[in-house]
Amino acid sequence: METEPNLDLARELLKNPRYPRTCKYDPEWMVGLDMGCPTLWLLERLCEVMELKPGMRVLDLGCGKAAGSIFLAKEFGVEVWAADLWIPPTENWTRVREAGVESLVFPIHADARKPVFAQDFFDAMIGLNSLFFFATDDVFLPNYLVGLVKPGGQFGIVVPGFYKEFEGDLPKDLPEHLKQYWISCMLYSWHSGDWWKRHWLKTDQVEIELVDNFPDKEGFRTYLDWERIIGYKEKIAEDDAGRNITFVRLVARRNKNTPK
Ligand SMILES: C[S@@+](CC[C@H](N)C(=O)[O-])C[C@H]1O[C@@H](n2cnc3c(N)ncnc32)[C@H](O)[C@@H]1O
Repeated sequence: METEPNLDLARELLKNPRYPRTCKYDPEWMVGLDMGCPTLWLLERLCEVMELKPGMRVLDLGCGKAAGSIFLAKEFGVEVWAADLWIPPTENWTRVREAGVESLVFPIHADARKPVFAQDFFDAMIGLNSLFFFATDDVFLPNYLVGLVKPGGQFGIVVPGFYKEFEGDLPKDLPEHLKQYWISCMLYSWHSGDWWKRHWLKTDQVEIELVDNFPDKEGFRTYLDWERIIGYKEKIAEDDAGRNITFVRLVARRNKNTPK
């Protein structure tokens, strides 16, 4: 997507002390690694409700340009398998080395839907702005994804979504102001927190520890702020004005005694 980043605004907003971890990173670096969302803001808030300890093995699934993987390694000392389909791992390896975390972050080219990883291998899985691309069908979670994390381990995801599911025949019955985004922003695979909760619970292999849109309208606000910083041509958050669009945060834990 064509963009015109506003670096002055980035420098102002990305130094927000409400995100003490994100504040440590160079605003231009974050803007340069944009893949559609304020990764570090969202990840910082996600990590606040997860248990991450040094030495844990974490899968960053759909890691994009690995900004989040680098953040996880630096902030929590975890080992990160930075797996992505579109971004070449060699490109991510350069970034990982520049960030000085080459002993902790391992970039991999992987299609999440292919059996690339060993079952029960990871202590946790994180998916930032990625699972709506490949994890919305009924089979992938119970038959494959849940099993990648050890029993008792956590899953943390953030996806763009809605406060409530839309009813009726979609996209026909979508609010008029959102219709133009149905294809271009992939609204057909966006869902509410309740939808994602049910989707994970249907596996019968996890407990849900948290699902929300971030406190105090933060899901919408971060969307809007990032849209202004990056200067996307599609001003979906601005047009929606807080009516429907937000980010969904969900943390699940694999049951201790789930059969594979
Ligand atoms: C919107 S980007 C988000 C990237 C990153 N997590 C971030 O927050 O900046 C979504 C990422 O999902 C990845 N993706 C989409 N389908 C995938 C698949 N089947 N397997 C692995 N990654 C996939 C894409 O390569 C892309 O980098």
